Amino acid sequence: LAVMGLLSQVAGPLGNFAANASLPVLIAASFTAFVVVSVVLNILSQLLIKKPNEPPLVFHWFPLVGNTVTYGMDPFKFFFENQAKYGNVFTFVLLGRKMTVCLDTTGNNFILNGKIKDVNAEEIYNPLTGPVFGKDVVYDCPNSKLMEQKKFVKFGLTQEALRSYVDLITAETEDFIKGHKAFKGEKGIFDIPEVLSQLTIYTASRALQGQEVRNMFNDKFAALFHDLDMGFSPINFQLNWFPLPHNRARDNARETMIKLYSDIVRKRRSGETKKESPDMIWHLMDCKYKDGTQIPDHEIAGIMIALLMAGQHSSASTISWVLLRLASRPELVEELYAEQQQALGDHLPTLSHDDLPKLPLHAQVVKETLRLHAPIHSIMRKVKQPLVVDGTNYVVPAGRTLMSSPGVSAQMGSYFPNPSVWDPHRWDAENTKFEETEDDEKIDYGWGVVSKGTNSPYLPFGAGRHRCIGEQFAYVQLQTILVAFVREFKIRNVGGSRDIVGTDYASLFSKPLTPGTAEWERRSKA
Ligand code: HEM
Repeated sequence: LAVMGLLSQVAGPLGNFAANASLPVLIAASFTAFVVVSVVLNILSQLLIKKPNEPPLVFHWFPLVGNTVTYGMDPFKFFFENQAKYGNVFTFVLLGRKMTVCLDTTGNNFILNGKIKDVNAEEIYNPLTGPVFGKDVVYDCPNSKLMEQKKFVKFGLTQEALRSYVDLITAETEDFIKGHKAFKGEKGIFDIPEVLSQLTIYTASRALQGQEVRNMFNDKFAALFHDLDMGFSPINFQLNWFPLPHNRARDNARETMIKLYSDIVRKRRSGETKKESPDMIWHLMDCKYKDGTQIPDHEIAGIMIALLMAGQHSSASTISWVLLRLASRPELVEELYAEQQQALGDHLPTLSHDDLPKLPLHAQVVKETLRLHAPIHSIMRKVKQPLVVDGTNYVVPAGRTLMSSPGVSAQMGSYFPNPSVWDPHRWDAENTKFEETEDDEKIDYGWGVVSKGTNSPYLPFGAGRHRCIGEQFAYVQLQTILVAFVREFKIRNVGGSRDIVGTDYASLFSKPLTPGTAEWERRSKA
């Protein structure tokens, strides 16, 4: 009755206002009223409707927008704040969609090691990756086919191949340093993320992708890569099909890339191009699916594009963070230099694959950097049937998106004392409790035996059937580049500060904000 009374009080003046107002004013007024009513209803529904069997919902003012802004600005801050409020399992609204986040080791295990009948990756990722990688590869095919494709790649990364990659990456890095305009003279300043992103793609393309792709990189390939990359804009989760200029450029780039790769394969098959060193294209040309069929050329192209994109963002971001962190702790650059001299001799011979295990601090620098700067902050899966979340009474309905963030457990004080401190020495011999061991539960999803990683809080390469296959290559690439930089330069922050730039979370892969400048000084050859 009170509401009716109130309405009748409001209705009279509103009627007069409507009769006298112009059309644009009426539209604006109706829109404002609509927004106000939806905000009020949204708040009331959160306060009044509680579903005890559903994870708690993170409070948000606006429907649809939900928590998009706070999550998007800094996902880790968002996860930690809500973990403190709601525990390890909670739901939030991202662009109108409900996301249920499961954190800590139990959450990592629940999502990453989920059964294929319960959780699905391709339905979430393919709208974004399909138009970039092309047909019939990765998430544009049944999971069993992806497992076969992962097996091909994993088995292509043999010790022999990795051995040759160290030589190629070293040569590429030395040439790059010699030729780059940022490294003229004896000292200077360089923008780490910008320069290292170029070097990452040159080294990855020379090693993994082969000589022909590397040769094309200086001109047309770099532009094609850029256009394809725009296909990963987060807006494409919803609008991948919309004829926006960046989507048209993406489609053109994909078609051109597929043609370029198919030409490379054709020339190799016909004998026009001879094999000089192993690479992934040569390997894929020899592989056969279980039913005996060869991998078609467009699929070889798609797999190669996927490897290029997957590796580039994560490795470029990681090596940039490595150098940014080192610039803020220049004494560690000298420790690394000393490690090389001690392990390999004062004259520092050309690096070989066998030298890498002799340089544990170099590996620990990469490892510690990945702990604090996981390039993939959120991993998603779609729920296929109602699921009870491990260790709770919560049930998540079919169709809900699950979100895992192993980067959160990697930054929890309960596992890593002083978690926000970047300290490569925390991984020294006596402190290797999170290493995989022989006793860990192992599983084979069709692409080789891997540890389930069930209890580890440190999973920068994920876990389960979708675990990364590029880990070994990434370590070889990152350590080799690191060795070359430490040999050539002393590096420190401009003015000697110990500050570190913030993180850019605007695209799907997080990376350092630019510019991230540092001073370099060439070591005296004497
Ligand atoms: C998947 C991290 C480098 C190829 C993943 C996943 C993570 C990850 C966390 C799991 C995603 C999920 O579960 O949804 C990293 C990091 C890297 C790196 C931190 C470097 C520092 C590479 C490289 C390659 C690569 C160099 C290629 C040679 C892939 C592929 C997948 C994947 C193909 C998809 C596997 C699937 O869905 O089954 N990576 N990655 N990654 N990574 Fe990497």
